[in-house]
Amino acid sequence: MTSATELQQGPVAASAQHVSKKYGSGETEVLALRDVSIDFSAGQFTAIMGPSGSGKSTLMHCLAGLDDVSSGMVRIGDVTLEGLSDKAVTRMRRDRIGFVFQAFNLVPTLTAKENITLPLDIAGRDLDQEWFDTVVGRLGLSDRLTHRPSELSGGQQQRVACARALVGRPDIIFGDEPTGNLDSRSSGEVLSILRAAVDDLGQTVVIVTHDPRAASYADRVVFLADGQLVHELLKPSADDVFAVMRGLGEGEGN
Ligand SMILES: Nc1ncnc2c1ncn2[C@@H]1O[C@H](COP(=O)(O)OP(=O)(O)O)[C@@H](O)[C@H]1O
Ligand SMILES: [Mg+2]
Repeated sequence: MTSATELQQGPVAASAQHVSKKYGSGETEVLALRDVSIDFSAGQFTAIMGPSGSGKSTLMHCLAGLDDVSSGMVRIGDVTLEGLSDKAVTRMRRDRIGFVFQAFNLVPTLTAKENITLPLDIAGRDLDQEWFDTVVGRLGLSDRLTHRPSELSGGQQQRVACARALVGRPDIIFGDEPTGNLDSRSSGEVLSILRAAVDDLGQTVVIVTHDPRAASYADRVVFLADGQLVHELLKPSADDVFAVMRGLGEGEGN
């Protein structure tokens, strides 16, 4: 483990300030986030952990401009999302953010290669062929590029979704359990390429994970419980992470 002062603090890539998020109203009201304030430094790899229903996905969706906050403020770089038009938020997501969701969101009629380059094609940006080759090679997809999603295993589809988020070199990559459906080898490939995106390209990565081993790839691990930030570890080992999870009543592998 590392103390706070030993971790380099770059400029802030994404920030939530006093963010609360309410779903529903009256009897069905759920307070998914309660006054959450957190900064994500540029060039850092952060893992968000916490029990099921603790607000991890909600926080990630709010940070990425996929969901509105009920109160508080979200910033990506120096841009405050509140007050931007839907169109401007969409453009910001397209240009600066990459996502890997639990459901891979691949287009069934496109090949793996076309799915991977789709965000660049939509943005009218050029493909960096060398980086594309590096990403698909590291993720073991080089001989699967002409296949459609239905012709790929779940793990391969997940890796295509990762490649799609990485290939445009967005400032910040959000992943909601990006290794959730992968065997340990594929999981290791995805995590090490996310780590390389941070170390070699200075990108910022934020993932939600349940896996202490996945979290041990991160520079910083933050824990949510009941919509609030309750704990934080810097450069932890998998054992450090597991100890905190057990303390939060999450030792049963959820
Ligand atoms: N669209 C929604 N409508 C109503 N409640 C929701 C919605 N999304 C999430 N919630 C609720 O908000 C809380 C936090 O959910 P979520 O962020 O998905 O948790 P996690 O990702 O940590 O499992 C849960 O109680 C969940 O049921
Ligand atoms: Mg979730």
